[in-house]
Amino acid sequence: MFFNFLTKFYSLVPSMIYPNKKNPIPEKITIRKPLSQITEQVPIHWLDGNIVKTHVANALSIIFKNEEEYFIKIVRKFIPKLKNAKLKKEIISFIGQEQQHCDFHSDFCNKLTDQGFDFQFLSFNIKNFIYGSMDAFLSDELNLAIASGLEHYNKSTAELSLREKVFSNSDAILKELFEWHLAEELEHSNVVFDLLREIDSNYWLRIEGFFIATLVRNLTLTFTTANLVVQDDLRQFLRIWKEGKDFFFTKDQILYKLFLYIVDYAKPDFHPSQHNMTDIISEIFKNRNFEIFFSKKPANQTEQTVN
Ligand SMILES: [Fe+2]
Ligand SMILES: [Fe+2]
Repeated sequence: MFFNFLTKFYSLVPSMIYPNKKNPIPEKITIRKPLSQITEQVPIHWLDGNIVKTHVANALSIIFKNEEEYFIKIVRKFIPKLKNAKLKKEIISFIGQEQQHCDFHSDFCNKLTDQGFDFQFLSFNIKNFIYGSMDAFLSDELNLAIASGLEHYNKSTAELSLREKVFSNSDAILKELFEWHLAEELEHSNVVFDLLREIDSNYWLRIEGFFIATLVRNLTLTFTTANLVVQDDLRQFLRIWKEGKDFFFTKDQILYKLFLYIVDYAKPDFHPSQHNMTDIISEIFKNRNFEIFFSKKPANQTEQTVN
């Protein structure tokens, strides 16, 4: 009875909040390689001159490097079983985009190492102990549900930070590169979710994956951010405390806003396309230069045209 009420209530919410549901996600997923490269001298506090914001973004970069490899590995397993040609094409484009993101975050992590941050042990454990164990010991379907949950975290982080213009006062090249990645997260935000629905549409499997994804994302992000902040300059404890309080709770209220995006996923009739994202995606890609790869053929035979 309560569950029926919840289902009915949630089904009304999208039309109230998102009245324009027409074509909310672009039809075609484009694989882009940014022409901009990370500069030699990345400022230590490149995001808004803010220690906490910078290390949250740095920590996300360390996590993405491992997480996106995990996504590629998981979704690849389902390609031979798929009969839906449109979805198959989207998955190949998804893999292409995530591979580009992995390459960028690997390069950026090398810059962090050059700056003197040591996160190799942590990154090794995230890759092998967390993602490796899930892949080895959980079913393929549950891994797919976890990947779908993590992609919802990525989509929510992307939508929130782009709408809030979190990168507006940061190193110009890193702003461009992070915003490119986040806009592509929005562009392909339906893919893993649709694949999960195609393989197994059970609501509780989706929620089980979401629960594990929540643990994984929050643990890895908290530990990695704390690890970088501790290595930075703990003598500035009061500044770090104030920046954290302002960013997470009082001024920007990022945690509260992110929570509202995240819980959307628990709606029984949730779909990523219920949020209209074409406006932010086109805004980000306007007037920027990329090498474009269209995914008309399998990933290892991509056709390349230069923009
Ligand atoms: Fe990505
Ligand atoms: Fe993604």
